[in-house]
Amino acid sequence: MAPEIVLKDATTKLTEYEATGGYGALAKARAMTPAEVTEELITSELRGRGGAFFPAGRKWSFVPSKEQLPKPHYLVVNADESEPGSFKDNEILSRVPHRFIEGCLITAHAIDCDKVFVYIRGEYSGPYEILVGALEELKDRPEIRGNVTIVVHRGAGAYICGEETALLESLEGKRGQPRSKPPFPAISGLYASPTVVNNVETITTVPPVIAMGGAEYAKLGVPNTRGTRVVSISGNVVNGGNYEIEAGTSLREIIYDLGGGIAGGRELKAVVPGGSSTVILTKDEIDVGYDFDSLGQLRTAMGSAGIVVLDDRCCIVQLGIRFSEFYEHESCGKCTPCREGTRWLTAILRKLDDGRATQGDLDLLLDVCDRINGKCLCPLGDSDAIIVASYVAKFRDEFQAHIDQGGCPLDGHSSLDHVLAPVQMHAHSPAAHGPEVRA
Ligand SMILES: Cc1cc2nc3c(=O)[nH]c(=O)nc-3n(C[C@H](O)[C@H](O)[C@H](O)COP(=O)(O)O)c2cc1C
Repeated sequence: MAPEIVLKDATTKLTEYEATGGYGALAKARAMTPAEVTEELITSELRGRGGAFFPAGRKWSFVPSKEQLPKPHYLVVNADESEPGSFKDNEILSRVPHRFIEGCLITAHAIDCDKVFVYIRGEYSGPYEILVGALEELKDRPEIRGNVTIVVHRGAGAYICGEETALLESLEGKRGQPRSKPPFPAISGLYASPTVVNNVETITTVPPVIAMGGAEYAKLGVPNTRGTRVVSISGNVVNGGNYEIEAGTSLREIIYDLGGGIAGGRELKAVVPGGSSTVILTKDEIDVGYDFDSLGQLRTAMGSAGIVVLDDRCCIVQLGIRFSEFYEHESCGKCTPCREGTRWLTAILRKLDDGRATQGDLDLLLDVCDRINGKCLCPLGDSDAIIVASYVAKFRDEFQAHIDQGGCPLDGHSSLDHVLAPVQMHAHSPAAHGPEVRA
C-alpha cells in the first residue's frame, strides 16, 4: 500500500486540517532560516511535478538574495493543468487546499517573498471556489498568513499558458507566448524579478517534506525519483481516477491493481504514460517502474503523470489525430515550425485515416516531425512531433495497413471515442486573463 503524503487526511476545512497537524510544518519552517528550508528540500530530492522534473530545492537556490539583486521576489504556482490525460492538480486543490496553501507559505519563506500568484486553469471553477474558500478561512489568521499575499488568477483557456514563461506573460496581462530562455525565471521572471514557478503538486508536497524532514522523505521511492506521485489513470480502465503511488511502482500494478485492469474484458494495446506529450508504450513495455530512470530507459517519461490506457480496439492513427489536433489548436503561433508543422501532422494523419494517403505521406509525416523537433522556443510542437514519431515507430504495421487497405482497418470500431472524450480544446484566447481574487 502506497503511503499517502500529498492527499493524506483530505479535508477542505481549516479546523480539521489543523486538528491533524496542519500548518505545523509552516511553524517548523518559519523557525528555520530560508537557506535551511531550501537545504531540506534539496536533501529530500523532491523534483518538480509539472512535467520537466527539475529538482525543487535547487530551483529555489537559484533565486539571488535581495542584497545581490534588490528586487521583489515572487512565487508563481502553476495550476494551469491542461495536458490531455492529467487531472491530478484539480483533485489536489479540491481535496487538500490548506496543504497547498501551507506549501505556498513555506516556499514564500524559503525564497524570501511576500507575493504568491496562483495561476489556475480558467475551466477549473470547482477547485477555484474551494481554494478561494480556504483562503477566506485564513482572513482572520494573520499568524498563519504572515506578511504573504496570495493572489489567485484565473487563466482564460490556453494550454500554452501552462508553459512557465508564457504563463508569466499572461500574468503580466500580455499575450501568452513563451519567452526565450535564458534568462530563466529564477533570475528574471514576473515583472523581470526573481521568480520561482512550481507546479501545484510540487508545492503541496513541501509541507510533508518539512514535517518528515528531507532525509526521511528521500527514503521513499527509488534513486532519482523520490517520494510519491499522484497519477491520473484514464482511458479503457475499470477504475479511472487519481491515485497516490510510491515512485517506482510498476506500471502494470498501476493499471491492473489500482486501475482495475482493462474495461469490458478487452486486451491492453498501449499506454500513454505521462500525459499526451509522452512517448507511447506498447502492451509489452508495462513491466517498468513508474520513475524517471526506468521510463527513461524506454525513452519516455512520467511527464505530468497522466496515464492513458488504450485497449485493443484503439486506432493509433486516430490517437495521433486527436492529440495533433490539440497541439495544432493550442500552438500559440509564435514559432513557424510549431504553428505550421502541427497543422501538417494533423492533415497527413487525417489523410491516412481517410484512406487517401500514399506511401510518400508516411515519409512526409516523419519528415515534418524532424522539422519541428528542437526548432522552437518551447516544447509544445516538439511534443506533437515526438509522440507521432513514436506512434509510427511502435505501430508501423498499423500505419502501413491504413495505406494498403485505404483507411482504418478497425473500420469505424475504434474505442478512441470512449477513451479521450475528456480531451478538451481550449477557447483560444491566450491574451485574455480572468478576474483575480486576493487574500
Ligand atoms: C506547453 C506546456 C504546457 C505546460 N503546462 C503545464 C501545466 O499545466 N502545469 C504545470 O505545472 N507545468 C506545465 N508545464 C511545465 C512548466 O513549464 C514548468 O516546467 C512547471 O510549471 C515547473 O514546475 P515544477 O518544477 O514544480 O514542475 C508546461 C510546459 C509546456 C511546454
